[in-house]
Order: sequence, then structure tokens, then C-alpha cells
Amino acid sequence: MLNLKSLYLIPCLLVITSCLKSDPSPLIFNQGITSLPPDSVSSQYLSANSCKECHYKQYSEWENSMHKKSYSNRLFISAIKKENQTWCINCHTPLNEQSKHFTETDTGHVIPNYKNSDLLDEGINCSVCHVRGDMIYTSSFPGISARFNSPHKLSYDPYLKSPEFCAGCHEFSFPEQIKPITLSNSPMQSTYTEWKKSGEKRTCQNCHFSHGNHTLPGPHTKGFIKSNLDLDFRIINTPMETFAVIINFSFDKIGHNFMTGDLFRSESINIFDNEKNALRTYSLNRNVNLITKKITSDTILKNRNSDGKLKEEVRIQVGQSFPSYFKIIYHYQGHIESTLEKENFPKKELNFVIYDGNCGKLESIKGKKTKSHL
Ligand code: HEC
Ligand code: HEC
Ligand code: HEC
Ligand code: HEC
Ligand code: HEC
Repeated sequence: MLNLKSLYLIPCLLVITSCLKSDPSPLIFNQGITSLPPDSVSSQYLSANSCKECHYKQYSEWENSMHKKSYSNRLFISAIKKENQTWCINCHTPLNEQSKHFTETDTGHVIPNYKNSDLLDEGINCSVCHVRGDMIYTSSFPGISARFNSPHKLSYDPYLKSPEFCAGCHEFSFPEQIKPITLSNSPMQSTYTEWKKSGEKRTCQNCHFSHGNHTLPGPHTKGFIKSNLDLDFRIINTPMETFAVIINFSFDKIGHNFMTGDLFRSESINIFDNEKNALRTYSLNRNVNLITKKITSDTILKNRNSDGKLKEEVRIQVGQSFPSYFKIIYHYQGHIESTLEKENFPKKELNFVIYDGNCGKLESIKGKKTKSHL
């Protein structure tokens, strides 16, 4: 027989289970195969301006983030003019209402049909990640006060805190065909797989949304790479009596390879003698054969120690002259940087210096076994 107490429990349990029920999550992304379905966000919440007044902290952080700039960023605008596929905008501006600013051709390409669009310029905005219909999703179980204070509907979705949430846009393969969009098995960005392999316990959110900070620290944040990277240089005499440089890169806090993400990211290690004559340039990059869609060479630094830490050694043969001066440069679009220079891109949007200075002493480590990238 039911007693009175258990009758009170039933509605309580219903409330809790409906809050916890999150499978499948409405916040899932599908690698840009489609934009979000029409009306997936109620019109009152489409723009970040609809959150600004009350969540000014998150708004002002997001406003300067690369998620906000995922469309307006000039490197993207330049790329989408050359490779104008629907697929690209499905991920860089995922709202259906944003895709209405383009006309799709029969071949799966897009032609812009607007002059200015504030919504497009919001790129990946609050509603992309937090809103479906008129429901606003939070990553932490809302306390009683949040539920009472919030003037809008609020639901808990733990998916927002999981690396799988980010993987919907940060892990994808080359397209096989672009209308309808189908993806091949050749990875184009594999940050999520790299994270899994790295053994890192911290999630993407722990490092890139730490304490709910929406500025999205990354390579576009001044000083972020420098503050996470330790560099150690050594110069050695090789058996042929020529010089070689050994550079140890180490990150304690990096949940993936260096670099991860966009395939055109690269780093150049420029080596000079004491009169600043160039001796050698070595690149950390990935090259792809765009026809077979296979990676043909890959010198980026892998996070493979399974303790989350990245420690890799790069060994570069220099030659007869003593290498005394180094410049390490990060390039956002290394493979096409010279083309972009001709399009008058300001230098600071193309690259930045990670290290610029002299290096260490001569050390003889003849006969010592070392891991090498060459
Ligand atoms: C009129 C003011 C107002 C507007 C507009 C508004 N919110 Fe809120 N929101 C609140 C308040 C108040 C709370 C409860 C905060 C608390 O007490 O922790 C809340 C709670 C939240 C939470 C959960 C916070 C937590 O601590 O669990 C999220 C996420 C959120 N809002 C996102 C949004 C987004 C995204 C938008 C725009 C689409 C938006 N809100 C628009 C006032 C507003
Ligand atoms: C790329 C996805 C993304 C975008 C865009 C985004 N957020 Fe968030 N937001 C998150 C994630 C992830 C968290 C949880 C971070 C954590 O604590 O682990 C979060 C946390 C929050 C919280 C705290 C409550 C909670 O869910 O933990 C509020 C409030 C919030 N966001 C509001 C906003 C507003 C307002 C905007 C737009 C100005 C915005 N967010 C844009 C992903 C996003
Ligand atoms: C332990 C901290 C940590 C974790 C966990 C982490 N990252 Fe990072 N992330 C970094 C650091 C440090 C950098 C800067 C170095 C770089 O650019 O690769 C970075 C850079 C990035 C970049 C920019 C890459 C580039 O150079 O263009 C992206 C994108 C990124 N992370 C996404 C993710 C995603 C998605 C996850 C989860 C699957 C994740 N990160 C997990 C620390 C972390
Ligand atoms: C809707 C798709 C989408 C989702 C969801 C998403 N991202 Fe992104 N993210 C992007 C795009 C597109 C860019 C590239 C913006 C640019 O450089 O133009 C980006 C850029 C980044 C960067 C690079 C910042 C820099 O300085 O260059 C980091 C780090 C990052 N995202 C982390 C995350 C994390 C962590 C999550 C999960 C909480 C996440 N993203 C969720 C699409 C997404
Ligand atoms: C499934 C999501 C997705 C799709 C589809 C996609 N991208 Fe991206 N794109 C990203 C993410 C995530 C990043 C950021 C990675 C990083 O920071 O290294 C990015 C970065 C970029 C960048 C570098 C921007 C910068 O700030 O340096 C360009 C340019 C770009 N994408 C162009 C394109 C083009 C052109 C297409 C279509 C052919 C496309 N993307 C398709 C997710 C996507």
C-alpha cells in the first residue's frame, strides 16, 4: 500500500530524473554535415545580445574569443571565398538562421546574399552552445537559487562539460563529397583523438573554459603558448664534426599534439650564425596530398607519453657553422602564408614569435642515444 510519504517522493524523483535525462543530448554537433535544424533556437535567444544584459561577464569574455570570430576572422573570410562549401559554414556559423545569409548552389557551394549581418559576425555564439528552443542548458546542476532566480527556462546537460561536446566540431575528416556532404576516413582535425591518446585527465573545458571563462585561451591569446611551453636548447658536435641543435619542447599542460587543429598551422625553427646569417630553417608541420587526402609528412610534436605531458626532442643538423641564434615562429596558415602576404594581411594575423634569442653552450654528447625527429 502506498503511504503518504512515497507520494511526495514521486514528483521529486520525476523532477530529478527529467533534469538528469540527457541522452541523446540536444547539444550534439555533427562535424558540419548539417547546420542546426530550422528553429532549433527560439528567435528571442538567437543573438548574443539577448544574454548580454544579464550575463555580461560571459558576454565580454566571449566577445574577444576566436569562437566569436569563427566567421568574421579575415583568414576565414579569405578561405571561404576560395573554398566556398556549405560544409564550412555549417561548422563556422552553425545556426540555421546564419546559413540563410547564403544561397546554396547545386554543387554544394555557397554564395553570400547579404551586405552586413550581425548574426553571422557573432560566429559561434551563446545560443549555438547553450540554447535549444526556449530552453537554456547549463553544465552544472542548477542550485535552487539559480532555478528560482533565472528568468528563463533552465535545464541541466552534463554533455556541455564533456570533451565529446567539443569533438562535434573539433574532430572531423576530409569530405568525400560535398553534396550531400559525406565524410571520408582521412582525419582533417583530430584534437579529440589526440586528447584520448594523451592520457590527460583534464578535459578540454578544464584548460580552455577554466572556471567558466569564455575568452577561450589558445594560440590567438597573447603569451598563452609561451607561458605553457618550456624550451631547452643544446648544441652538439656530430661524428662528422659538424654541428647539430637539439631542442627539447615540453608542455605540462597540453591535452593534445603541438600543434593540433587546423592542418595549415606550422612552426618554423630558424637558425642563424653569430652574424645573423641564416643557416637552416626546419618546419614542424603536416603536409597533405589533397587528391588522395592522405598526410604525406608530419613533423608536429606528438603527445604520446600517456601522462598528459608532452616532451619531445627535435634534432636538427646544421653544418659547419656554429649555430648561435634562434627564432621560432608560429604560423597560423604556414602553407599559404606567402599568398596571404600578397593579399596584404597584417603580419600579426599571420604569425608570431615564440622564441627569439641566443642559445646555450656547446655540449659533447657523442654516443648518447637520443629520440630524434630527423
Ligand atoms: C533577464 C536576465 C537574463 C537573460 C536575458 C538571460 N539570463 Fe541566463 N540567467 C539569469 C539569471 C538571473 C540566472 C540565475 C543565476 C544564478 O542565480 O546563478 C541565469 C542562469 C543562467 C545559466 C545557468 C547558470 C548557473 O549558474 O547554473 C545559464 C547557462 C544561462 N543563464 C545562460 C543564458 C544565455 C545563454 C542567455 C541568452 C540566450 C541568457 N542566459 C539570458 C538571467 C538572464
Ligand atoms: C563553444 C561553446 C560555448 C559558447 C559559444 C558559449 N558558452 Fe557558455 N559555457 C560553455 C561551457 C562548455 C561551459 C561550462 C564550462 C565549465 O565550467 O566547464 C559554459 C558555462 C557558462 C555559464 C555558467 C553556467 C554553466 O553552464 O556552467 C554561463 C552563465 C554561460 N556559459 C553563458 C554563456 C553566454 C552568455 C555566452 C555568450 C556570450 C556563452 N556562454 C557562450 C560553452 C559555451
Ligand atoms: C591540459 C590542458 C589542455 C587540454 C586538456 C586541452 N587543451 Fe587545447 N590547448 C592547450 C594548450 C597549452 C594549447 C596551445 C598550444 C597549441 O596551440 O597547440 C592548446 C591549443 C588548442 C587549440 C588551438 C590549436 C592551434 O594551434 O591552432 C585547439 C583548437 C584546442 N586546443 C582544442 C582543444 C580541445 C577540443 C580539447 C579537448 C579534446 C583540448 N584542446 C584539450 C591546452 C589544453
Ligand atoms: C559549433 C562548433 C564548435 C564547438 C561546439 C566548439 N568549437 Fe572551438 N572552435 C570552432 C571553430 C570553427 C574554431 C576556429 C575559429 C577561428 O580560428 O576562426 C574554434 C576554435 C577553438 C580554439 C582555438 C582558439 C585560438 O586561440 O585559436 C579552441 C582552444 C577551441 N575552439 C576550444 C573549444 C572547446 C574546448 C570546445 C568545447 C567546450 C569547443 N571549442 C567547442 C568550432 C567549435
Ligand atoms: C566540423 C567543423 C569544421 C568544418 C566543417 C570546417 N572547419 Fe574550419 N576550423 C574548424 C576548427 C575547429 C578550427 C580551429 C582549429 C584550430 O584552432 O587549430 C578551424 C579553423 C579554420 C581556419 C583557420 C582560422 C584561423 O583563425 O587561423 C580556416 C581558414 C578554416 N577553418 C577554414 C575552413 C574552410 C574553408 C572550411 C571548408 C572547406 C572549413 N574550415 C570547414 C572547424 C571546421
